[in-house]
Amino acid sequence: MARINDHYLKLKAGYLFPEIGRRVSAFGEANASACKDKPIIKLGIGDVTEPLPEAIRIAMHKAVDDMGNRDSFHGYGPEQGYAWLREAIVENDYRSRGCDIAADEVFVSDGSKCDSGNFLDILAAGGGSSGGNTIAVCDPVYPVYVDTNVMVGNTGGANDAGEYAGLVYLPVTAENNFTPPLPEGKVDVIYLCSPNNPTGAVMTKADLAKWVEYAKANDALILYDAAYHAFITENDLPRSIYEIEGARDVAVEFRSFSKNAGFTGTRCAFTVVPKSVTAKSADGSDVDLHRLWNRRQSTKFNGVSYIVQRGAEAAYSEEGKRQIADLIAFYMANARIVLDTVAGLGMQAFGGVNAPYIWLKTPDGLDSWGFFDKLLGECHVVGTPGSGFGAAGEGYFRISAFNSRENVEEAMGRVKASLK
Ligand code: MLT
Repeated sequence: MARINDHYLKLKAGYLFPEIGRRVSAFGEANASACKDKPIIKLGIGDVTEPLPEAIRIAMHKAVDDMGNRDSFHGYGPEQGYAWLREAIVENDYRSRGCDIAADEVFVSDGSKCDSGNFLDILAAGGGSSGGNTIAVCDPVYPVYVDTNVMVGNTGGANDAGEYAGLVYLPVTAENNFTPPLPEGKVDVIYLCSPNNPTGAVMTKADLAKWVEYAKANDALILYDAAYHAFITENDLPRSIYEIEGARDVAVEFRSFSKNAGFTGTRCAFTVVPKSVTAKSADGSDVDLHRLWNRRQSTKFNGVSYIVQRGAEAAYSEEGKRQIADLIAFYMANARIVLDTVAGLGMQAFGGVNAPYIWLKTPDGLDSWGFFDKLLGECHVVGTPGSGFGAAGEGYFRISAFNSRENVEEAMGRVKASLK
């Protein structure tokens, strides 16, 4: 008899974004004629809307032509990514900021969401109470970190607030400036995301240094998600955890071309696994995670297509960098419009300055889903309920800056009219 992975049965409802999509579709169907006059505007999921930069498209077109010629055709590529892309990544994202990362420590992939989930393949499962890893996450948090840990059996069941037994939650709220506090006890694996999804907060070098120190002192591993690094506007904020001394001994970093270069539909990302990061085997010896991740990827992954990697490489050309900077400035101007609107309405808002997400305190004592329903019902505007990111997200609401200028202005005009 075939058996399922019972841990999946512990997962709460659907994954957040499909669940929002389902509710929005149901609303659209039930209010078809009103939605024809006032179309629904989605500022929920952080999905880019603007075209791929020209430099990237040109590189991809050329790569398609390469594939049409026997001499420049590419079959299977290296599972870790082509050397020219790994080298461009290291040169532009790491060496330029003084980080000691080598090209063969970069693993090109089709997404940070997949990589952050897949990384659990090479770590002991079962959770801290059964000799595996005790996992710490921020609350609120990008739901993938939690759900993937539930899937591999690192947690018990969820309570009514959606908190899973066995996970260590680090509340990030306005009171602590959305900076995760160090855990009281010892944890083995910590997920950090900066600029943060969903709060838009950014950790400073001093904040990160405390975590690196904690990880060293406790033999812990930091899984650092820097998917939104390109949205940082303030100079002295770290773009990478490797800007912190010692981080290459304790941290793995996830990066993506999705949000900066518009690759959500094109798919390209990378994970940095320094050769100096180790974790313990059952017999207590140190094993380097680079070797295990390489083994995992070589077995389960066949690499990102040549065409897409050529596009990603062009993100680092002079024109590519300029066009990406324009794209980011465009989304950040959207964020400004959202921030100005909600501030004008007297709402408390965070983020939106070094990140494409605005994190609001819901007005009038409404809970997160209550505010979601109000915005959808009155304005036909979709955001993301804070409680969908964790229990401490209750009473908050996320608005994404990823949309056209026209839609953001229209959406904010409606919000202003409805909430004034
Ligand atoms: C989000 O809206 O939080 C992100 O788009 C989700 C993701 O990047 O997977």
